[in-house]
Amino acid sequence: ALISMRQLLDHAAEHGYGVPAFNVNNLEQMRAIMMAANKTDSPVIVQASAGARKYAGAPFLRRLMEGAAEEWPHIPIAVHQDHGTSPAVCQRSIQLGFTSVMMDGSLGEDGKTPMDYDYNMGVTRKTVEMAHACGVSVEGELGCLGSLESGEAGEEDGVGASGKLSHDQMLTDPEEAAQFVKDTHCDALAIAIGTSHGAYKFTRPPTGDILAIDRIKEIHARIPDTHLVMHGSSSVPQEWLDIINEYGGEIPETYGVPVEEIAEGIRHGVRKVNVDTDLRLAATGSVRRFLAENPAEFDPRKFMKEALAGMYDVCVKRYEAFGTAGNA
Ligand code: G3H
Ligand code: 13P
Ligand code: NA
Ligand code: ZN
Repeated sequence: ALISMRQLLDHAAEHGYGVPAFNVNNLEQMRAIMMAANKTDSPVIVQASAGARKYAGAPFLRRLMEGAAEEWPHIPIAVHQDHGTSPAVCQRSIQLGFTSVMMDGSLGEDGKTPMDYDYNMGVTRKTVEMAHACGVSVEGELGCLGSLESGEAGEEDGVGASGKLSHDQMLTDPEEAAQFVKDTHCDALAIAIGTSHGAYKFTRPPTGDILAIDRIKEIHARIPDTHLVMHGSSSVPQEWLDIINEYGGEIPETYGVPVEEIAEGIRHGVRKVNVDTDLRLAATGSVRRFLAENPAEFDPRKFMKEALAGMYDVCVKRYEAFGTAGNA
C-alpha cells in the first residue's frame, strides 16, 4: 500500500532501522526494487527525480507506482519526489499522488548559492504547510552536498554551487539544523557529511576526514526526534566496476560510501538512505556482460532481464545491511 514517508520513517526510528530510497525511472528498476522488497519483507521508498519525470513522463511514473502497490499490496511504499526545486514543483507532485516530496532549497533561489538560510527556510516552510494539508510528508535539506576532498560543492549534473567552500561550510551545522527543523516542521532532514551524487565521490576509500560520520552523531544528539537523510549514499561496488570494465566499459578508479559506514549512520538517526548510482552500475554491468557473451541476441527483454537481476541483487543487499528486511 502507498503510505506517507512520515509513517514509514516513524516505524523505522521506533525499531532502529534505515530505509533505502531508490530512484526509479523505468519498469525494470521498479520491478527490481519491489521484487527485492517482497523477497526480504521490507518497506521501501521509491523516488522520482526531475530527470526521471523528464525521461518517463510523470503520468507513466505515477502508473508504475500504482502498479507496484497493486502487485505487492502487503509492502508499505512511500512514493517520494526527489530534489524538488520550488514549492510549485512539489505542489504538482502532490497533485500527481506522491506521498512525500523533497523541497531542496539548499542551493538558494538561483540553484547556485548555498547557505541562504532564509530562502531555504521560507520555501521549505511553505511546502510543509501545503503538503501537510494533504497528508503528504516533506524532506528538507540543510548544508551542501559535495566533496570534502576537493572543496567542490555539487548536485546533479548541470546544477551545482559555484566556487569552493570550506570544510566546515560543507557540513551541516547541528545548531542550525535544530533551528531549521523548528522553523519548518519538516518530517525528515537531509544533511551534508561529505557525500556527493554519482559514481565519483572519493578518489580513495573514505576515512573520517572526507566522510564525516561523526557529524551525523552530533546532529542526532541535538535533534534526536528528527529523521535524518543521507543523499549520495551509493557504495559504488568494486565488483560491478570490474564487470563493466571487463566488458568494454571505461570507468576510472573511484569509491563510494561503504555499507558499514551507512549502518553506523543508521545507529545514529539516519532513516532514509538515497541510492541511485549503484543500481545504474549493476544494470550497465549486467547488460554489457550479457551482450558481450551473447552477441547474436537481440530481444531487449533478454538483456533487460539481466539488468533487473543485477539491480535486484543490489537491492536485497541494501535491505539486509540497513536492517530494513523483515519490517514490512
Ligand atoms: O539526485 C540525484 C539522483 O541520482 C537522480 O539523478 O537527476 O539523473 O535522475 P537524475
Ligand atoms: P547516489 O548517486 O549516491 O546513488 O545518490 C542518489 C541520491 O542522493 C538521490 O537523491
Ligand atoms: Na529526496
Ligand atoms: Zn540526492
